[in-house]
Amino acid sequence: MNSTFCLLAGTILAILTYYGAQGYCMAGMSKQEVKATDDGKLDVVTYCEYKGIRIEVNATKETDDCFRCTCSERYMSCCGYGIHAGVIMPAAGCKIVTGADGCKPLHVKVDDETKDCFSGESVIGK
Ligand SMILES: *[C@@H]1O[C@H](CO)[C@@H](O)[C@H](O)[C@H]1NC(C)=O
Repeated sequence: MNSTFCLLAGTILAILTYYGAQGYCMAGMSKQEVKATDDGKLDVVTYCEYKGIRIEVNATKETDDCFRCTCSERYMSCCGYGIHAGVIMPAAGCKIVTGADGCKPLHVKVDDETKDCFSGESVIGK
């Protein structure tokens, strides 16, 4: 193995780690609140919160900023999806725009954003 290869491998590893730490996936602690029940007892309710959005235990929610968060008894994990799933490289002559839901990545022609880069079909409304 020569030193050029080692340097290249090191660079690729650093980029993956960087994007991992950037938060294409991230985890946080769940929260607990104490609630009084109708019959006057106290109940501990576990839930998760992502940017002010409440997610119940065992539920999964998709957020406006293209993260999919799942709440468990102990922690919440959120992973980017669509445009936030990772690094998406457009093919030559194409560029990436987001679809109607604001998350789905669409490959469109550089000189006409309304046309699919590969099929040439309209992407309006997709
Ligand atoms: C969540 O799912 C686990 C495993 O299926 C279950 O044991 C637990 O009771 C569930 N919690 C809630 C609040 O639904």
